Amino acid sequence: MFNVIIADNYDQISSEAFRIVKKELQQEEHPVLGLATGSSPIGLYKKMIADHNVNGTSYKKVTTFNLDEYIGLPREHDQSYWTFMHENLFDQIGIPDQNVHMPSGEEPDMNLECDRYERDLANYTIGVQILGIGSDGHIGFNEPGTPFDSVTHVAKLEESTRRDNSRFFEGDIDRVPEEAVTMGLASIMKAKKIVIIAYGKNKAQAVYGMIRGPKDPSCPASILQDHSDVTIILDREAAALIS
Ligand code: GLP
Repeated sequence: MFNVIIADNYDQISSEAFRIVKKELQQEEHPVLGLATGSSPIGLYKKMIADHNVNGTSYKKVTTFNLDEYIGLPREHDQSYWTFMHENLFDQIGIPDQNVHMPSGEEPDMNLECDRYERDLANYTIGVQILGIGSDGHIGFNEPGTPFDSVTHVAKLEESTRRDNSRFFEGDIDRVPEEAVTMGLASIMKAKKIVIIAYGKNKAQAVYGMIRGPKDPSCPASILQDHSDVTIILDREAAALIS
């Protein structure tokens, strides 16, 4: 069942997402958050940092799992998701390093790394999973055609995804890695609560597919139609085709 919130602007989108995260942090003794990269959750992360600084909200007992990572970028690379998460959140909330879980895109045997990550995940239940959505309907890096029963795996990125993300690589698609490691769709579906953030007209078609389209791997996010607790937070542009 989808709870759809259409917000007036990006700040309001971020506030709505923050409200859900904050509730989880208040309610759980050992909260487990699933986190995403991309531009969509940055406002949420800013609010988490501000809340930590102003209200002293502690992250000492919080565990995090990230969705995905590029393969082939060293983690120190300025566009690795490791760098993104440390710069935009982890370094500013005092979360212990050992509580942070991210798949590595630098292992000689990536299949072993996928198994390791899935085993790590199995020791926890994610309370709130934050997601963005790709313009082709991907979540994490689960591109169209990914089976609904997929677990953590190596994914080949669609050209459209690499084009979308080239804005972070000086506009040069050739610099965007061709593969990534990502939690699978079945791994994502295990979260108790899912929060999806999307803004801008580039996301309208994917949002339509997720909510109104057939439940089909051609739109990976449509798997969320089977989840019992999904909040979708949109601006008017991203909601243009559903309202
Ligand atoms: C990337 C990430 C996704 C993210 C999506 C949307 O490819 N792997 O996790 O949700 O793109 O990104 P953005 O929020 O920048 O539009």
